[in-house]
Amino acid sequence: MSAPFRPGEVCLLVDGKGRHYLVDLDPAGVFQYHVGTLPLCEIIGKPEGSAFRSSGEGRLVALRPRLADYILRMQRGAQVVYPKDIGPMLHWGDIGPGMTVLEAGTGSGALTMALVRAVGPGGRVVSLEERPDHAAGARAAIARFLGEIPLNLDLRVGRVEDVVTEVAPERLVLDLPEPWAVVPPAAAGLAAGGILTAYLPTVPQVQRLHDELRRSRSFLEATTFEVLFREWVVEGRSVRPTSQMVGHTGFITVARRVVGDTGSRAESPEAATEPGDDERPGTEPGLS
Ligand SMILES: C[S@@+](CC[C@H](N)C(=O)[O-])C[C@H]1O[C@@H](n2cnc3c(N)ncnc32)[C@H](O)[C@@H]1O
Repeated sequence: MSAPFRPGEVCLLVDGKGRHYLVDLDPAGVFQYHVGTLPLCEIIGKPEGSAFRSSGEGRLVALRPRLADYILRMQRGAQVVYPKDIGPMLHWGDIGPGMTVLEAGTGSGALTMALVRAVGPGGRVVSLEERPDHAAGARAAIARFLGEIPLNLDLRVGRVEDVVTEVAPERLVLDLPEPWAVVPPAAAGLAAGGILTAYLPTVPQVQRLHDELRRSRSFLEATTFEVLFREWVVEGRSVRPTSQMVGHTGFITVARRVVGDTGSRAESPEAATEPGDDERPGTEPGLS
């Protein structure tokens, strides 16, 4: 990490106004922007954080992109999970070192890279993508950021439904339009006590997923939440929230696989409530 920049690495250039540019360090390449040019060979061999002058006297600082920087600027075949949601998905989906995680769809590979980091070299991520073009794009995007496809990542073209039993994951992470279709194989193939995490943009999709989780009688503590992220401006005495923010990305649903009947008799949450349950607000099992 602290080594000087190497040829072929991806680098983040930050200009005097805080604008970000993602560039691949081709020794023969030249970075060009509205304040002139900078030969990329000048960056190669220099330490991270070095400052450079462009031909038009612009100031550029070279950094290695954080994964969040890269995700926001990488090439996308499919819509990525945004950094604001990735952190909570890893946390509440309880993705940890040494685990076996099954993910689908790979999409552009953004969430995949975060999963690979979270499980570490002792863990394993198997990521399924049904569209060969998306799978190829994700492979290229991951190799660009990490330098190669890591040994703990198994990228496959296919449908996730078909491999749950074979992989027998401890964690299942779904960012695809119909996760309810994966619930029956997950009820059989996800490890006991394992966690299913799903990312969905709309309420009807969330409802249908909950219906299927309940119907399967194999999942407990199904919880859905969303993440609102508001950045602040801190400039002198002007300290305030930014005037614009992202209104909606996706809902995150997390559920735990249990062995035996969960007692969810019906499809409605009311019918699943046991007599005598305390239904005061705030007493439900959840994330609070
Ligand atoms: C929204 S994208 C995933 C984006 C990804 N999480 C990321 O951060 O880059 C959804 C992907 O799921 C794929 N997909 C849909 N159903 C699938 C299935 N049953 N098995 C595998 N992939 C599937 C789609 O082709 C699409 O590329």
